[in-house]
Amino acid sequence: MTMGRNKNFHPRVEDLLSRMTLREKIGQMVQVAGPKGGIPDALRRQLREGRIGSMLNVTEPAISCELQRIAVEESRLGIPLIIGRDVIHGCRTIFPIPLALAATWDPQAAETCARVAAREASAAGFHWTFAPMMDITRDPRWGRIAEGFGEDPYLASLFAAAMVRGFQGSDLSSPDTLAACAKHFAGYGAAEGGRDYDAAVLSENLLRDVYLPPFKAAVDANVATVMTAFNEINGVPATGSIHLLRKILREEWGFSGFVVSDWKSIEEMVNHGFCEDGRDAARKAVQAGVDMEMQSSTYSDHLEDLVATEEIREGLIDDAAAHILDIKFRLGLFGERPLYRAAVPGQPEREALLQAKNAALRSIVLLKNNGILPLSPETRRIAVVGPLADDPYEVLGTWNRDGRTEDTITPLAAIRSLLGEKTEILHAGGMKYSRSRDTTGFAQAVQCAREADVVIFFAGEEAILSGEGHSRAYLNLPGAQETLLDEVAATGTPIVLVVLAGRPLIIGKAAEKAAAVLYGWHPGTMGGPALADLIFGVESPSGKLPITFPKAEGQIPVYYAHKNTGRPPEKLSLTMIDDSPVRAYQSSLGDAARYLDIGYQPQYPFGYGLSYTKFEYSDLRLSAGTVLPGDTIQASVRLANSGTMEAEEVVQLYVRDVTGSLTRPVKELKGFQRIRLKPGEERIVRFYIETGKLGFHNSAMQYVVEPGRFTLWIGGDSQSSLMAEFHLLPTRDMNKR
Ligand code: BGC
Repeated sequence: MTMGRNKNFHPRVEDLLSRMTLREKIGQMVQVAGPKGGIPDALRRQLREGRIGSMLNVTEPAISCELQRIAVEESRLGIPLIIGRDVIHGCRTIFPIPLALAATWDPQAAETCARVAAREASAAGFHWTFAPMMDITRDPRWGRIAEGFGEDPYLASLFAAAMVRGFQGSDLSSPDTLAACAKHFAGYGAAEGGRDYDAAVLSENLLRDVYLPPFKAAVDANVATVMTAFNEINGVPATGSIHLLRKILREEWGFSGFVVSDWKSIEEMVNHGFCEDGRDAARKAVQAGVDMEMQSSTYSDHLEDLVATEEIREGLIDDAAAHILDIKFRLGLFGERPLYRAAVPGQPEREALLQAKNAALRSIVLLKNNGILPLSPETRRIAVVGPLADDPYEVLGTWNRDGRTEDTITPLAAIRSLLGEKTEILHAGGMKYSRSRDTTGFAQAVQCAREADVVIFFAGEEAILSGEGHSRAYLNLPGAQETLLDEVAATGTPIVLVVLAGRPLIIGKAAEKAAAVLYGWHPGTMGGPALADLIFGVESPSGKLPITFPKAEGQIPVYYAHKNTGRPPEKLSLTMIDDSPVRAYQSSLGDAARYLDIGYQPQYPFGYGLSYTKFEYSDLRLSAGTVLPGDTIQASVRLANSGTMEAEEVVQLYVRDVTGSLTRPVKELKGFQRIRLKPGEERIVRFYIETGKLGFHNSAMQYVVEPGRFTLWIGGDSQSSLMAEFHLLPTRDMNKR
């Protein structure tokens, strides 16, 4: 027994564990998918014998209750099942996809969404969600970009912690909470080429400075569980990584919940070429510290024998079972939480819908506006076109498990209800769905455009084109959408383009044809009303990009926190592809890290997003020009709303450590605040920067804050130019502070 390992276990864990057989302990480590239509005899038997500890995807309430009843009433020790579900961005009420939530730059809003989702899902009988996902990615080809919080470790960490708090509440045993799951640990978003499940090649520094911080933030927020990733990192599958799971997660961070594999990711270690067979995979996963196996059966098939042959110590099984039982106790499964409670998630409450609309309002990003937006509610005749104008399903986005189309208010319906009878709305989708190549509906859409004063064009991607297993090599508007846009643009009627998608799409050319562009992501159940309010100026857009938008696929990865290189492009005047004479003499003099054909700038930078009002930044001040290690430096800026509308701005602070023992990124986000100002109003916005947070992992893998020159910017996006400098002075014991 190795119970001394974690002194914080629930007081009843040790006693229960001491009464369990090896087989029952292994049973706790087994998770299987729920049956459909009825419960097979073999499953009943396994439950009675205590061979299953958890189930997922149990969707039929009667079956869920019966499974739990068998586990509790017919097994020797009556240990309840922990029932999991992918409640990723909402249960019945579907909130904007997580990438969109990150675009709110409002972690509190995300926390509220998670709280509502926990309430709905726990009432439906679920105890555990496989969320939040917090995989950093710099590659919009990767379909799962939709599920995470974008490219930045600081922003993603705040959202990861907020959603854990939202799901778990302040007391996990309260019956309206869910155990959260920080996933996918780790490096999953670094999949080569953006191909889902592909290998990640990551230096330890990059892993620790960029990919791990959100997980650390989730652990600090007491996340109950962690899910391993499908991928390998530098040759070791995450599911078999002693380094990740034992050294970093348990030893360095002190994580005390339990670790679950991803779907069959233990068995997949054979495919990876890391394990001989299922038996070897079970051994390596347990040794690495995977407490629960999702869906594959290597644990139930082999662990007993592996202990009998002393290939693994029984202590490892005790540890795993204890981690799981501890969370079951903490969740109140042995007392406070009603066990035989399961239901089809009920209709969204008013409050939930309000939160969904609020999150969507803040998540939508205005990318371009020649002044056409907001549209006047007095506009006489409006054409609403495009395949996503009136689709109640696709706007819900990926991982919609329990949301219903009948709850969705589509953009078309919302525009109609906002404007009422006085405006004539002409509607023709033009295409039935986003990938369609059928152009027979074009004529009608073009006719609507011709007759209208303005066109609102809802383009984008269907939900199934992003999310797991849905990586794309081309990031254009799929199907015939670009052609439809061309034909509509040819009418000369101005276009407001609204893009609804699970990832950044390449929209430079499409944007040129539009007078204004709103990026709405997949905005969820209440996306329509939020879009209508923004289009007609009930509110000003205030979302900011949590991810850089590339100009072309060939530019990926493109992200704001890149390295400066020896030849940074900014200061040079560069010859573009058409400027070189034919048969030019080979020369690279004066050239820089960029492309001949598109230069080096992204389409839209990280942090970018326009407003209907005008925000002006001035008067950037620092409390000191020099600072001692361990101290805090104050930075302030004057923010003025010099436009004509009340609106919110996300004020962003970036820092650069100019010289390091390892080179540092050109900018790193270190703070932000959402500020609401009336027209004519101004405010001094202050940030307090702890110097201890300006460090990185050096070549000895120590977290260090190195003395020297730092540059600091405050502004409305990652390219803002208002800048100041300070020096961090050296002291001998600097890194200890
Ligand atoms: C995904 C996980 C998910 C699990 C259970 C896997 O395919 O990678 O994110 O939680 O399935 O549905």
